[in-house]
Amino acid sequence: MAEITERVQKLMTHVIDHAETTLLHPPSTLSAAVENTKKHKLPPIAVSPLQGQALAIQAQLIKAKNVLEIGTLGGYSTIWFASTGANVTSIEINPKHRDIALENCAAYRDQVEIVLGAALDVLPILEAEGRKFDLIFMDASWDEQWKYFEWGMKLVRKGGCLFVDNVVRSILEDEEEGKGPAVQETLLQKVGRTPGVTASLVPMVAPHRQTVDELFDGYLIAVVD
Ligand code: DHB
Ligand code: MG
Repeated sequence: MAEITERVQKLMTHVIDHAETTLLHPPSTLSAAVENTKKHKLPPIAVSPLQGQALAIQAQLIKAKNVLEIGTLGGYSTIWFASTGANVTSIEINPKHRDIALENCAAYRDQVEIVLGAALDVLPILEAEGRKFDLIFMDASWDEQWKYFEWGMKLVRKGGCLFVDNVVRSILEDEEEGKGPAVQETLLQKVGRTPGVTASLVPMVAPHRQTVDELFDGYLIAVVD
């Protein structure tokens, strides 16, 4: 196991972290946002630069005009999405996080709306308002991923896409807590038996890599008929 950890760390340093600095074209306000988020001691659990860039590219590929995020934190992925020119509606439960995210997204004030509240309270309101989104990124409570996904199916436009972050670690964590596939269906199984959706899993080396259990993660990507 130590050998695997060492190998992965080498890979991170020489290939993946290097890619971050050479390949990416980050939005200009991103580094100030990262600093501000650190200064206010928000949890260091935003998506990685590579994942942020991948999400932004996928938003551009489907010409997303309206993006919904479930879970804002400091607005890191919000900035990536807004940098594509899309409007972003982001739901955040924590008032402190919402305030920092508003500071971080100030340059995109005309495009970014941060709604304070619990996602499962806010999502029905968005539906009642008749809102539709081209892309929905779900990155909040791991225990509610399936409920978010069901709301996502209602709120996404035909041909739009849904992302769920941290699916691999969520499944592993459930398994460790005795709630594995033998006891309850995983998100992947639930999505797999849902008509009208085609999904895959994008495995990755986790960006917050302190321990071996946290080394790998992955997010679900789905397109809805
Ligand atoms: C963690 C990572 C995430 O991407 C997230 O949304 C929540 C928690 C973590 O590493 O603990
Ligand atoms: Mg996440």
